[in-house]
Amino acid sequence: MADLEAILSQPHLEEDDIVFLLGLRDPDQIERLRLRAVSVLETHVGASVYYRGLIELSNVCACNCYYCGIRSGNAGLKRFTLSESEVMEAAAWCARAGYGSLVLQAGERRDARFASYVEHLIRRIRAESVLEELPQGLGITLSLGEQSLETYRRWREAGAHRYLLRVETTDPDLFAGIHPPAQTLERRLRALEHLAAAGFQVGTGVMIGIPGQSLIMLARDILFFRDHPIDMIGMGPWLPHPDVPMGDWEQPLSQQERLQLALNMIAVTRLVCRDINIASTTALEAIVSDGRERGLLYGANVAMPNLTPGYASERYRLYEGKPGLEAGAEQCRGRLFGLASAAGRAVALNQWGDAPHFARRQKSKERPRAAGPEPGGDSGS
Ligand code: 5AD
Repeated sequence: MADLEAILSQPHLEEDDIVFLLGLRDPDQIERLRLRAVSVLETHVGASVYYRGLIELSNVCACNCYYCGIRSGNAGLKRFTLSESEVMEAAAWCARAGYGSLVLQAGERRDARFASYVEHLIRRIRAESVLEELPQGLGITLSLGEQSLETYRRWREAGAHRYLLRVETTDPDLFAGIHPPAQTLERRLRALEHLAAAGFQVGTGVMIGIPGQSLIMLARDILFFRDHPIDMIGMGPWLPHPDVPMGDWEQPLSQQERLQLALNMIAVTRLVCRDINIASTTALEAIVSDGRERGLLYGANVAMPNLTPGYASERYRLYEGKPGLEAGAEQCRGRLFGLASAAGRAVALNQWGDAPHFARRQKSKERPRAAGPEPGGDSGS
């Protein structure tokens, strides 16, 4: 029987150790894991919580993922795309609220018109969000799916600097089981490479508790984060949506088990990839009302309060139980500040809050990444 303290005090964790930590169920042992994650967080990225205002730009999507509520096959869903003025209003609100950054997220659209619209929005937001207390203007993160390298370059050039594209799972069979044949893991991995090549800070992540997913697969996901140019992670429990093919799949884990596994994933990812940003995601809150606060307590340092106008956010349901739908941006803001202070953490206002991992990655660009483990934060911190 592996000894928890011995594992936690190791400088590098390997697959077996990670599997062991992810599977912890005893509350005292989980608490030791959590405290270790918090200590690594404080040492390598600091205890501040960074906010990114989330704008759900459009629920139009060309993909047909078996788990997702806005999949193209969901014919009953009313589609929307926010107007330029709606986006600019939300961006202005975001800057005034002191969040420092925003995220433009949408279903995947690869048409030229959409690419131009996004480019235009990026340029306008960058030019018009400069305030006395935010002289650098709003930071912009995109979450717009797989695009060509050319489109990524264009959006990077326009002034977006971070991009989120979840791999969902790095296990080839599991990936194939939850996506239609045209959507392949190879394509997803290539898109992640292209994002790094285009100069983005790259975020990825996985869903946790997918039927058929093992602790070994999740451990390999974490090792993937470690061994690729990944600066940010967003992950949360898989949640069923009634109108999608996976809606009636048998759930091997209870909601509580899935939540704890997701929290353990956050903690272990913090231990392995020390100086990256980790988001405490809304999906955590779909299971328990203080889910996002718990994410922060397990080593996350980013939260994404929703800024989307209510009528649109209502139609941007990726899973059942999306929280905060009745709340406006103002209420969301109040809750989020309460959330950070409940977790005993300060909010860093008017900052972009880039992960130190990205700066370190830039510095060592000429040197090819060693095949051996060199977890985030070994140098430069
Ligand atoms: N349960 C949990 N997460 C989901 N996502 C999409 N559908 C679901 C679901 N049913 C997540 C995916 C996607 C992100 C935008 O939302 O990980 O990348």
